Parts: sequence; C-alpha cells; structure tokens
Amino acid sequence: MKILVINGPNLGLLGVREPEIYGRTGLPALEARLRAVAAESGVEVEFFQSNHEGAIVDRIDAILTGSPVDGIVINPAAYTHTSVAIADALRAVRVPAVEVHISHIAAREEFRHQSLTAPACIGMIAGFGLDGYEYALRHLVKSAARS
Ligand code: DQA
Repeated sequence: MKILVINGPNLGLLGVREPEIYGRTGLPALEARLRAVAAESGVEVEFFQSNHEGAIVDRIDAILTGSPVDGIVINPAAYTHTSVAIADALRAVRVPAVEVHISHIAAREEFRHQSLTAPACIGMIAGFGLDGYEYALRHLVKSAARS
C-alpha cells in the first residue's frame, strides 16, 4: 500500500511562515514523522509539495498513468478555496483522499470557510496542527485494512 502526501503553496515554508498559526515545525520534520508512522504501519509514503496548481494536478493525474497510489493526504493550502482543477483531479483518479488543514479554517477569515476540494475527499481534518496529517494517514491505512 502506498500513500501520497501532497502539500500545496507556501507549505514549503512551514516552521517559518506565520508560526503563530502554523507552528514552528518545518516540512522535513513533518515528513520524517509521517515516514515513521507509515513504516510502523507497513505502508509506503511519497511526499509532494508544490506552489503550482498545475503541478499538483499533474501529480494527481499521474496516479492513472504510471504512478499509482492507494490513498492521498492533501493540504491544498490556498488552492483549497479556489481550485476547481484540483477538485476535478481528485474526482478523476477515484483514490480515497483526506483533506488536512493545520489551522481551524472555519474559525478564520470568511474566505477560508469554503473548501472547493473537500467535497472531492472522503473527509476533512482541520485545526489539529500537524497531528491532522498523522490522523489522516492512520485513517487511510485503517480503512484499507478493513476493505
Ligand atoms: C491551510 C489553510 C489555508 O487557508 C491557507 O491558505 C494555507 C494553509 C492550513 O493548513 O491551515 O496555506 O491550508
């Protein structure tokens, strides 16, 4: 089993970007933590971060053309609120995806309340900091074991 973890724009700056909102842990440390959880669960994990909407769409689409995965953990970041293209890609590949937000988007500015991408996912986790990624990964592993 392989899980793809996608992080969208500005998440490469985790740890230095608005630490009062997103914390002081960097993306490499988050990825190391998820790699450890995946190893303990006996699953493979792939990480992809891009600031570019089309690159994210390309990686999702590639699931159908030679780079398959069994589940997706995705934080589309600002594209959450704007990207029909990422939502369409998630629907196209028919792989279970969990959307993650570090911050509690429903409690922030109004423009962050709507997610165009969450309806293309099996669920959304928001507001639990970086723990949300681990919860999402564990859920995908657990639900694959059940089916
Ligand atoms: C975010 C929330 C988005 O509104 C924002 O644009 C981000 C990060 C989060 O993880 O809390 O870049 O997705």
